[in-house]
Amino acid sequence: GGKKPDGARGLRFTPVAPNTADKVTVPDGYTQNIVVRWGDPILRGAPEFNANKQTAKAQAGQFGYNNDFLSLLPLKSEHGKQLLVANHEYTDEILMFKDYDSAKPTREQVEIAWAAHGLSVVVVDEEPRSGKLTIVPRHELNRRITVTTEFRLTGPAAGSDLLRTSADGTGKKVYGTLNNCAGGTTPWGTILSGEENFNQYFANGSSATDKRYGIGTAATERKWEQFDKRFDLKQEPNEAHRFGWVVELDPYDPDFTPRKRTALGRFKHEAAQPRLTTDGRAVVYMGDDEKFDYFYKFVSSKAMKKGNSRAAHDHNLTLLDEGTLYVAKLTGDSPVEDIDGSGKLPKDGEFDGSGVWIPLATGDVSHVPGMTAEEVYVFTRLAGDKVGATKMDRPEDVEPSPRTGRVYVALTNNSDRGAAGKAPADEANPRKANKHGQILELAENWDDPAGDGFAWRLFLVAGDPKDPATYFAGFPKDKVSQISCPDNVAFDDHGNLWISTDGAQLGSHDGLFGVATQGERRGELKQFLTVPNGAETCGPIIQDRRVLVAVQHPGEIDGATVDNPLSAWPDGRGKMVRPAVVAVWRKDGGDIGV
Ligand code: FEO
Ligand code: CA
Ligand code: CA
Ligand code: CA
Repeated sequence: GGKKPDGARGLRFTPVAPNTADKVTVPDGYTQNIVVRWGDPILRGAPEFNANKQTAKAQAGQFGYNNDFLSLLPLKSEHGKQLLVANHEYTDEILMFKDYDSAKPTREQVEIAWAAHGLSVVVVDEEPRSGKLTIVPRHELNRRITVTTEFRLTGPAAGSDLLRTSADGTGKKVYGTLNNCAGGTTPWGTILSGEENFNQYFANGSSATDKRYGIGTAATERKWEQFDKRFDLKQEPNEAHRFGWVVELDPYDPDFTPRKRTALGRFKHEAAQPRLTTDGRAVVYMGDDEKFDYFYKFVSSKAMKKGNSRAAHDHNLTLLDEGTLYVAKLTGDSPVEDIDGSGKLPKDGEFDGSGVWIPLATGDVSHVPGMTAEEVYVFTRLAGDKVGATKMDRPEDVEPSPRTGRVYVALTNNSDRGAAGKAPADEANPRKANKHGQILELAENWDDPAGDGFAWRLFLVAGDPKDPATYFAGFPKDKVSQISCPDNVAFDDHGNLWISTDGAQLGSHDGLFGVATQGERRGELKQFLTVPNGAETCGPIIQDRRVLVAVQHPGEIDGATVDNPLSAWPDGRGKMVRPAVVAVWRKDGGDIGV
């Protein structure tokens, strides 16, 4: 063995160099396995994946497409096993079906796509003394949630006229979930999943609110509206109102009807890791991933009940139905003329300032003039517009540090920042035509997550460290990895922040990075892995012995098709490209980065 790599505890590995290899590249001394791929059978009766003989029925029992958020939950009753939950954000038909004709998809192809969306719940088995994970097919807890699974709308907007359709006069029952991107794991043992770019599934939008949510006025690319009229807003104008929510799922109960929590508002959700106030109330931070959109939080009115009793469980499943929804307004502390859009640090040496949480609605009470509470929940973006919330550079995933309580917000990028007719650079979003993104660190006043004010500063301003318009919390920039387009964030048990990227703009593939947030190594960013051609890195989970990532949309490159794949991952040449979950661990069985 050579010299032990240097670094903060948990980050003692030799950084992976930026590269364009068509594989998952991990540090020296680490190894990996594919845990589960698109199409792997997980439910009883599901067949093995057959690229040339796909059916909707088979897909409904197989792992879905484009895994994004991941959660691993304990399975105390079964030694060495854990419960894996994965989001399946969207489908990429051109890479799924040979001879796919986007002008004329078949019903079978469309129904396969419906079954490939949603979530998977699958039990995984740990190999002793390693980080390797394998799935346990046909386990009774395994489950698929798809575009046709029944959901219940709950909370203050449930039953609203805005949520009723010809198929559902109650406004409380929806089929399916769409575009599930980031998520979170609650302290009460459920998972949250954010419905993000739901707009793309709906045809013939016509209202001003449809427009504000990016719903087009013509046919969709996927043409689902030809196979189910609810995707045609001319026929079902309210159906799109029933998507764009945070979903809550109890993964331990395979019969649980998943909920859509209207109290958390409707936008392009990147759900977050919830935390608790000292008196046990739940706080959920949430990004709306759109250029110039907003950052939100929800504070529940009731406190979580501890313990495993049925009563506690039932109570906790109502926590996200009652509370107050807030949106963030940030103010910089440097003079406006100090922020010139170049990314140059202001004279006080930091992009920083203070902020307020503006309440939008509490239960049935609206705090927004001219909007009812139901309108605030269903058209939350318009509420943010009215109260003058701060327009951010694509707020993605959010994670509070379990150690310090500080909250980290990934702001992916914003090519339109400072463009004609668009919001100019400000201290929290300090670069014009922002290609590489930044990470904001937020500290609630008095450390109270339920409070109405906070301090903030930029922790990282991403890019090539040689670029003067980058910042790594003040750490020497000749000692850090380059990073672009931060997307998902997670913490390890040492208090290090892990960041996965989507759309890296520095000529190398996307990847996963770890960075210390405290101590003298604060800001020392190190790359842990890179992903194959065309892929983004998602869903990182950092456990003592393993790192888990979702490799999303491998091979998604202009011009790629099934017959002309531009990636051979994960199964080699001649095989179909398949999104998959990868586990990485130390060959000697030791803890990650120690
Ligand atoms: Fe699906 Fe905002 O990433
Ligand atoms: Ca400042
Ligand atoms: Ca994302
Ligand atoms: Ca996260």
